[in-house]
Amino acid sequence: MAESDTATLKRVAATRALDFVQTGMKLGLGTGTTAEAFLDVLAPRVRGGLNIIAAATSERTAIKARGLGIPIIPLEQIAPLDLTIDGADEADRDLTLIKGGGGALLREKIVASSSNRMIVVADGSKLAMRLGKFPLPVEVTEFGHPVTATRIRAVVAGLGYAEFPMVLRQKDGATFRTDGGNVIYDCAFGSIGDAAKLGAAIKSVTGVVEHGLFIGLATRLIVANSADDVLVLERSQHG
Ligand code: A5P
Repeated sequence: MAESDTATLKRVAATRALDFVQTGMKLGLGTGTTAEAFLDVLAPRVRGGLNIIAAATSERTAIKARGLGIPIIPLEQIAPLDLTIDGADEADRDLTLIKGGGGALLREKIVASSSNRMIVVADGSKLAMRLGKFPLPVEVTEFGHPVTATRIRAVVAGLGYAEFPMVLRQKDGATFRTDGGNVIYDCAFGSIGDAAKLGAAIKSVTGVVEHGLFIGLATRLIVANSADDVLVLERSQHG
């Protein structure tokens, strides 16, 4: 699919998400191109009088939102949030997600966990029968990160993930750093059987800050396959 078509689908999904935003809400704003499409459709509503305040999941989102006139407040001043709107790298029909392709997984998970509801907006390419084709981002502390990576391999081997590419993320010829100053290993599992087990195993390794599996957080998934074919999947509110 052409890039412009994908951009249109992201905007279609983002526009549908606006239906769930009400005046007076405290919002969480995600990171990535689809989350930014949501900022683009939200901003004119805010200028038109929609009264919302928001917490951002990255410096990048905060800068863009402020530039569009969307009020950004530190999370701790406004939590709990009513609704977070974010993208995903992959989503399945149980609304389990892989996130972190943009490197913001930790703040995204903190914001989503501080929110009563989470809407995920996506173009049709993100919906997967089984998660894992998109390499799972795992954020680890910079100190000792090769040792942490070796230990991650050891714990997941016990779950049957024996051979898989695990790549220290690079950007512009240097090691990528998250907003929190950590590094990311992208783990290409290929196919993830039990996301909860895998996530718990990875999280058990000292030095792991967070992984990109979002389990039980999304309450609604809006997938745009075309301008007039938008799939909306729901699950009950997370605790
Ligand atoms: C950012 O860290 C990610 O979790 C994004 O939400 C995800 O990568 C989706 O990004 P796009 O909307 O740009 O595909």
